[in-house]
Amino acid sequence: MTSTVPDRAGKTAATHAETASENGARHDAAPSPQPTVSDLKVPRHVAIIMDGNGRWASSRGLPRSEGHRAGYENLRRVVGAASQLGVEYLTLFAFSTENWDRPNEEVSGILSLAAEVIRVETEELHSNGIRIKHVGRVDRLPQELQDQIGEAVEMTCDNKGMTLGVAFDYGGRYDVVQAIQRMIRDGKSPEDVTEEMVSNYLFTSSVPDPDLVIRTGGEFRISNFLLWQSAYAEFYSSEVYWPDFDGEQLHKAFEVYTRRERRFGRV
Ligand code: FPP
Repeated sequence: MTSTVPDRAGKTAATHAETASENGARHDAAPSPQPTVSDLKVPRHVAIIMDGNGRWASSRGLPRSEGHRAGYENLRRVVGAASQLGVEYLTLFAFSTENWDRPNEEVSGILSLAAEVIRVETEELHSNGIRIKHVGRVDRLPQELQDQIGEAVEMTCDNKGMTLGVAFDYGGRYDVVQAIQRMIRDGKSPEDVTEEMVSNYLFTSSVPDPDLVIRTGGEFRISNFLLWQSAYAEFYSSEVYWPDFDGEQLHKAFEVYTRRERRFGRV
């Protein structure tokens, strides 16, 4: 199979055009021919900020809770699509350390939905070889949810398929804080501390850094997600609200990723 590999200047122009159109932004440049991607590069680790549930619901005159439910339905589609495309690690930002500040009703709705997701989906994920990993704090979650998470993680821990990280009560700053706290408790001396050691103390220990961070819902913010881990991740923002971000949209993100040139600070 051959792919059209544009030169560096061509690649930059195409990337700008596709980014602008994908995000619905206006641009005056004449549309440049899109390079064909016949050799799709599938990122090893994809991390997604699932944003836009509320706006998806409001735009349909529905309560926000319906947006979260539609977000749950979509979670199944995207997990299936990512696994089929060969993604090894998929980490989804489901609830941030700041989301506790939302109205009580919304928070308890999301907590109940999380319990439902685990109750209804774990068996099927397990039979599909998916390994579930919780990323974040557990101590502030209701005991029953903590137990459910523990059981789902335990049940699937030996699976060899895609690792599904669920970032629930996760914040990137807190992640670094808890890593430092545990390093101090473990008696590490300052000279011992390396980047590799810090990585190993984060909630994502044993998971490689994300190659691609996707944010749905049109914003261009990292919102305290995987701050340390995303140092060299490619960032992709989609206008599409999370409930509508399906396998086709994921594929589109991978096409853009395929055309990116990753230099990791080198020339
Ligand atoms: C962000 O959209 C979404 C969330 C804070 C919740 C994510 C939850 C799900 C995808 C549901 C299922 C998954 C689990 C594990 C519970 P938003 O509410 O900020 O949307 P907005 O920006 O349009 O208001």
